[in-house]
Amino acid sequence: MAKQVPCGVRIAGCGSAVPDKRLTNADLAAMVDTSDEWICQRTGIRERRILDPDKGETQLWLATTGLRNALDDAGMAGSDLDLVIHASVTSEMACPSNACRIAAAVDAQPAGAFDIVAACCGFVYAMNVADSLVRTGRYRSIGVVGCDAMTTAVDPTDRSVAILFGDAAGAAILVRDDDLNRGCIHQTLNADGRTWPSLFIPRKPSDLPPDREDSGARMGTLRMDGREVYKFAVGKFREVIEDALTATGLGVDDISQFVCHQSNIRIIESAMDKIGLPPEKVYINIDRFGNSSAGSVGLCLDQLWKAGKINEGETIIMVAFGGGLTWSSSVWKV
Ligand code: UT7
Repeated sequence: MAKQVPCGVRIAGCGSAVPDKRLTNADLAAMVDTSDEWICQRTGIRERRILDPDKGETQLWLATTGLRNALDDAGMAGSDLDLVIHASVTSEMACPSNACRIAAAVDAQPAGAFDIVAACCGFVYAMNVADSLVRTGRYRSIGVVGCDAMTTAVDPTDRSVAILFGDAAGAAILVRDDDLNRGCIHQTLNADGRTWPSLFIPRKPSDLPPDREDSGARMGTLRMDGREVYKFAVGKFREVIEDALTATGLGVDDISQFVCHQSNIRIIESAMDKIGLPPEKVYINIDRFGNSSAGSVGLCLDQLWKAGKINEGETIIMVAFGGGLTWSSSVWKV
């Protein structure tokens, strides 16, 4: 445990993991009543990566691989971590947390470990919480990993959701830094729990909202009112980005990358149009990876990081929205 001296926060390394197995729009069209054209036009997705249970791949494996990759990038070992935070809605068990098992897999004991459930906002929520904890001076280094294996929570015969989601993990290692101005310079964590029936994963029939006719899909699979979530997301993306710019006194020109949750290309493009974000500052990988929920923003962050598109001294904004409904922003001086 570090001395309780306030400090800044540095991203020491990033990592990610995706399974090798691809699920293309053509594969989906062979399974449900849909088409490559419909999926591309409505979502921008061409293919996603999915776990291969025949190879023994699990959500836990994916999250652990993402965090290991970030530790390697930082040149650190699991034993260097004071805390592991894992964000997911598809953790293997209710108890223990996946974070405990991920921490064990990277030999991080006795580092603390806990899970965050904030759906697609999970990685951004976790980065905000981790920054705040390091900033107090109580923790020197925290491993953050957002990971969802949404294909384990989606009914493959439900075309309204099966086409959207893929499996991925994104991770970052945060360490203390003497520069107090470094790290997260503005953050928001928000939710409106009254809207939860727009997106949820029921465990048992009594979890269903009273007025809801069940689609017949099995318990443990995602129910989503796509149109409601779409309307919410289009408004929130714009609002969250504009609020973050106002709060920090920064303009679009001051930001090197807007790292957005990959939900639907139309949602991202709508924010780009309304705020006037230049395409080179808004990373898009939804065409190749679909919507990977808590994995999405961390996967983008790592791909930008490894491509040398996020450099020391630059400012980036991460934004996400998701089940809850939740929404969150995180502005970082890297
Ligand atoms: O990460 C947070 C989680 N969720 C989201 O971000 C999801 C946000 N919502 C969306 O991205 C979009 O609402 C969807 C991609 C899910 C759906 O697109 P949409 O343009 O809102 O379609 P819709 O639900 O309004 O459906 C339009 C039509 C309907 O047919 P009718 O009633 O017009 O005859 C649907 O039955 O398209 C039909 N449809 C499909 N057709 C072919 C719905 N899903 C499909 C499909 N293939 N997969």
